[in-house]
Amino acid sequence: MTIDTTEDLFVSGLKHAYHTEQRLLEALEELEETSSNEELKSGFAEHREKTEIHVDRIEGVFERLDAEAEPEEDPVVEGMIEAHEEFMSKDPSDEAIDRFNIAAGQKAEHYEVATYGNLIPMADQLGMDDAADTLEETLREEQDELDTLSEMGEAFDYGELSVSQ
Ligand SMILES: [Fe+2]
Ligand SMILES: [Fe+2]
Repeated sequence: MTIDTTEDLFVSGLKHAYHTEQRLLEALEELEETSSNEELKSGFAEHREKTEIHVDRIEGVFERLDAEAEPEEDPVVEGMIEAHEEFMSKDPSDEAIDRFNIAAGQKAEHYEVATYGNLIPMADQLGMDDAADTLEETLREEQDELDTLSEMGEAFDYGELSVSQ
């Protein structure tokens, strides 16, 4: 498939976003399961529910485009998942995992904010106002989650991690 129109570019971006959201559904489950802090755990569980809606919204945009909802592998999200697996293989303490998971979540949200921040003006450009609005709702939820995680990262109590020798 050649990409030389705004619509091609939009559809290509949408396919990558679709893949990203689907993979994040699994990743958020992993983040929830591996975290110990209750607030962190429930935060990931809540955002996972929102992520299901994000997947539905993208499917709705594909429908409006009369295109088949088809994911295309996004190497960035695969890399983030791999980084988490690699970290977990190093036998980290519960506290270290919590701190790592906050950062991992933040990185994913930053990526999604950038993804939707680019798709929305393209939808506008294509005159797809409904699609732009629905993607805007998702963007706001990603930004909220990013803000929550950033606050948790800043307020993290490093006293729970052992002091290095
Ligand atoms: Fe999302
Ligand atoms: Fe998200």
